[in-house]
Amino acid sequence: MRSRLVVGNWKMQGTVPVIEKLATDLAVAELPSDGEVAVCPGFLHFSLAQRILANSSIVLGAQDCAPEPGLGALTGEVSAEQLLEMGCRYVLIGHSERRTILGETEKTIAQKFKCALSRGLTPILCVGESLEQRNEGLTLSVIKAQVMDVLEEVGIASFGAAVIAYEPVWAIGTGLTATAEQAQEVHAEIRHLLQGRNESIAERIQIIYGGSVKPSNALRLFSMADIDGALVGGASMNAQEFIEICSIL
Ligand code: PGA
Repeated sequence: MRSRLVVGNWKMQGTVPVIEKLATDLAVAELPSDGEVAVCPGFLHFSLAQRILANSSIVLGAQDCAPEPGLGALTGEVSAEQLLEMGCRYVLIGHSERRTILGETEKTIAQKFKCALSRGLTPILCVGESLEQRNEGLTLSVIKAQVMDVLEEVGIASFGAAVIAYEPVWAIGTGLTATAEQAQEVHAEIRHLLQGRNESIAERIQIIYGGSVKPSNALRLFSMADIDGALVGGASMNAQEFIEICSIL
C-alpha cells in the first residue's frame, strides 16, 4: 500500500505577511497522520516558512533547483545542496510553467532531477499534456516521452526515490480539472511504463495529480487506484481549503 502525499505549490504568490499568516495557520492545523503534507514556498519565503513550520508535521519542498548540485558561480540559481541545508525534502522538477514560460528543456529537467537526487532530495517530476495535444489524442504519448526523457538519462533505479506529478497543462490554474477517470488513465499508464523497467519501483512510486485540485474534487480523485495524492497550486494559498484537501487524504 503506497502512502499518500499532498504538496502545496505556492508559486510566485504571496508577500511576507501573507506567507507568515498562511504558514502559521498550517502550523496549528490538524493534519492526517497517515499521509505526508509538504509545501513549496518561493525561495525568498523559504526560511520564514521553515521557521514557522518547524514544529509541525509539514515538510518543505522547493519549486525548482539549479542544474548544478553544489555551490558555485551560477548567478540567480539555488542548488540542491543549499536547499538541503534549509531543511528541504522535495523539489518540483519540470513544472509546466517552467517548461512553457521559461523554456526549460528535457535535458535541463533530467539534469535537475539528477542534482536533486545526488543531494538526497526527492524530485517530484511534473509531466502533462497541453489541450491541443489532448484534443489530438496525443496525451499518452506526450506523457510517455516526458517520463522516458528523464528515465533514459537517470535510469530506473533513480525513480525509486522520486515522485511523479501528472498535471495536465490545460487544468493548471484554469478551474478545469481532469475527471478522476481521465487522470487515472494517465497515472495507470505511467505506472505501466515503469513496470516494464522495474515492477517493484513501479508499484511503490507515488504518482500525484495536479490541476485545479479543490476540496470539492479531491475525494473523487483520491479514490482512484493509481492517484496517490495531489500537487495543489491555487487552493494551497488558502489555508482552510488546503487543510480540507489534506484531511481527505
Ligand atoms: P492549480 O496549480 O492547483 O492552481 O491548478 C497546480 C500546479 O501548478 O501545481
